[in-house]
Amino acid sequence: MPTTIYHGNCLDVLPTLPKASIDCIFVDPPYNTTNTINKAMVYDRNDDFARKRWKTFHAEWDTIHRYIPWATQWLTESARVLTDTGTIFVCGSFHNIPDVALAMRRAGFYTIQWVQWCIPNSFPNLSMTKQVNANQTIIWARKGKSHYYDKEAAKRYNDGKNLRDYWIINNDTTADRGKPWKAHPSKKPVGLVARALDIALPKHTCHVLDFFAGGGSTGAAAQHIANTYGIDVHCTLIEQCAEYVGWLNQRFLIT
Ligand SMILES: C[S@@+](CC[C@H](N)C(=O)[O-])C[C@H]1O[C@@H](n2cnc3c(N)ncnc32)[C@H](O)[C@@H]1O
Repeated sequence: MPTTIYHGNCLDVLPTLPKASIDCIFVDPPYNTTNTINKAMVYDRNDDFARKRWKTFHAEWDTIHRYIPWATQWLTESARVLTDTGTIFVCGSFHNIPDVALAMRRAGFYTIQWVQWCIPNSFPNLSMTKQVNANQTIIWARKGKSHYYDKEAAKRYNDGKNLRDYWIINNDTTADRGKPWKAHPSKKPVGLVARALDIALPKHTCHVLDFFAGGGSTGAAAQHIANTYGIDVHCTLIEQCAEYVGWLNQRFLIT
């Protein structure tokens, strides 16, 4: 079950991957959080807790005008590397999901479903100016006219009945205690990613890709599927932050 890790900008690495080589993509792109002031937030682990752990930096794609063209670029590359029956899951919050959806249409994807990820233990709304945001959206889309759906796997998540398109899954607050990747600020629960891969992957040798790899939840989910079904699941991870790539190497390459 090899994991391949690339350090770099996905827009540079994706064109080097072979056409039609990937069965499923799971990505959680950075959000269009600061489209009016042209700045994005980045987590700084080296800062001490007394000061803000989030700093602003300039991300040239993170404006209202540039997010959709930027996302269309990596989605177009996604379509190229997917097999004809391959599918993609793209996570988003209310900040970016309308733009992601438009970019997916521009890149030629057909929407299969919008999954609502309901998060019972989500962060509180400290300002009390609005309700607690306790959901995110995951758009599942296909490249071609048909896609694979493992309905038997799906039923296992819903007491033997077909899975519904809202998934109630807590954030992992205790997993990976003491591991460096626990500090990634927007880590997805491995169980969430594993569920997506489980319903979308044929259960034979296959290839998964995440080009916003972060702390490596997709790699861990691919390993989980491989171990559960006794199949080879090759996983390719791309991440541009050197510190996170160090964590990924530690998590997947050093035994
Ligand atoms: C929302 S996080 C993904 C978290 C990941 N799903 C997990 O569970 O750990 C987005 C990640 O994309 C990375 N990133 C942002 N822009 C990138 C780019 N152009 N190419 C590759 N990685 C990028 C960020 O450094 C960040 O780690």
